[in-house]
Amino acid sequence: MRVACNFLSVVKARRAELACLSLFLFLCTDTSTGEQVVRFLRFDDVAETLELFADAGLSAADIKDSTAWNDWVRTRDAEVRARVDQGVEDSISNLILYGASYTNLPRLEGVESAASETGELTASARARVHALVAALPNGARNERLRFVNEFLARKGIPREENLRQLIAEQRAYQQKLKTSEEASDPAAKLLARGTLFQDRGLSADTSLLPNYALEDTLKTILKKGAIQPGTIHRVLVIGPGLDFTDKRDGYDFYPVQTIQPFAMLEAVARLGLGKAEEISVVTADLNAAVNAHVARLAEHGRAGQAYTVQLPRLVSEAVAYWQKFGEMLGAPVKPLPVPASVLDVTMRAVAIRPRYAAQMHGFDMNVVTQTMDVPERQGFDLVVATNVLVYYDLFQQALAMGSIAHMMNHGGIFLANHALPAQHVQTLEFLGRRTVAYTPSGAYGDDVVVYRRR
Ligand SMILES: C[S@@+](CC[C@H](N)C(=O)[O-])C[C@H]1O[C@@H](n2cnc3c(N)ncnc32)[C@H](O)[C@@H]1O
Repeated sequence: MRVACNFLSVVKARRAELACLSLFLFLCTDTSTGEQVVRFLRFDDVAETLELFADAGLSAADIKDSTAWNDWVRTRDAEVRARVDQGVEDSISNLILYGASYTNLPRLEGVESAASETGELTASARARVHALVAALPNGARNERLRFVNEFLARKGIPREENLRQLIAEQRAYQQKLKTSEEASDPAAKLLARGTLFQDRGLSADTSLLPNYALEDTLKTILKKGAIQPGTIHRVLVIGPGLDFTDKRDGYDFYPVQTIQPFAMLEAVARLGLGKAEEISVVTADLNAAVNAHVARLAEHGRAGQAYTVQLPRLVSEAVAYWQKFGEMLGAPVKPLPVPASVLDVTMRAVAIRPRYAAQMHGFDMNVVTQTMDVPERQGFDLVVATNVLVYYDLFQQALAMGSIAHMMNHGGIFLANHALPAQHVQTLEFLGRRTVAYTPSGAYGDDVVVYRRR
């Protein structure tokens, strides 16, 4: 009985403590993360950007004080975060089109072959929807099916509708891409490409390829003297992503993985910009699944477990990069077998040493609406954001650039892989744009833009 009473008083005390704690958290909207604090952008932080876009006819144009701004930024944050689920729907649709882990049916060649002109699903697409539905009840041992089950339980989305929607969006996107390619003005073309996904769900897709373009660009700016050896100590990867079933290759026969944080660590080490064991790599993402993955791999690293990445061979110009990827961070291991329905894929796999996985720190952050306060000279020396800002309009991209500049050390480098608005905070100096081709014709590649923190 006394034990029960004691227990009750402890519970009461805990409740009072918890009530105080929730009040404190409510009053202070910042997320404290050890040394760093993630917080919403303040009116003062964005005054310059607001002025630059004052005549752009934006919903933000009539923001005249911090009360109006605080309201605006929190509303936008919720809107942006709501787009994550839409991105998950796209990933599930890709799993239906290309997945090999739950069915032996042939993979579809692309969204074009999944629906008729009028948007009706083809028989083969419908068969794959049914195969996924049939596999779901027994999907406990398949990470992706588990994820689909949890998502569907939460959202209850009709699955065929889901796929039809993706196909319609995909067509609209192809059309937008075509129109932008037809523009005669090269600047208009770049601008259209740079905001191509502003109306789409926030996908988490990732692959090794953009990291080839980033490393190649770092090598070039090092040669040109825009960056000095041994000067990178802290790296920020915005939107590291998760390789779930990406829209290009759609592989699902290996565990869900993230690659960019390790690719950046290796690039910095390989180029002599820093020492792999001394570099801190921070990731910032608004997708809870991405953040949980990074937290888990770091925890496993601290417990001595290696992080194995599976690496489908890259297209021609990037093959040499693919062959040596991971050599500085780990050792090659036998890749997972490729299912028969997945044709023509050569795999490598690398087990990254636990110490490097342990070096990762992941934060929840929406770079369009939030930033991180970092102690003097402990900001980031290198920030990368590939296939992230293309999901936003020019004003939101400019807000993100302000947020990024705020987190960087003077002289630090920021890299993205598409054109960004010319109207942005003065503290970011545009150094140039580099086209990195992935195929000899140059038809497939990335435009890496380089900025330096003044
Ligand atoms: C398409 S993936 C790109 C992954 C990787 N950077 C690459 O290029 O392969 C986009 C990533 O950015 C994240 N993201 C999108 N908007 C973001 C934002 N406003 N702030 C932080 N992360 C964001 C997504 O959750 C996802 O992880």
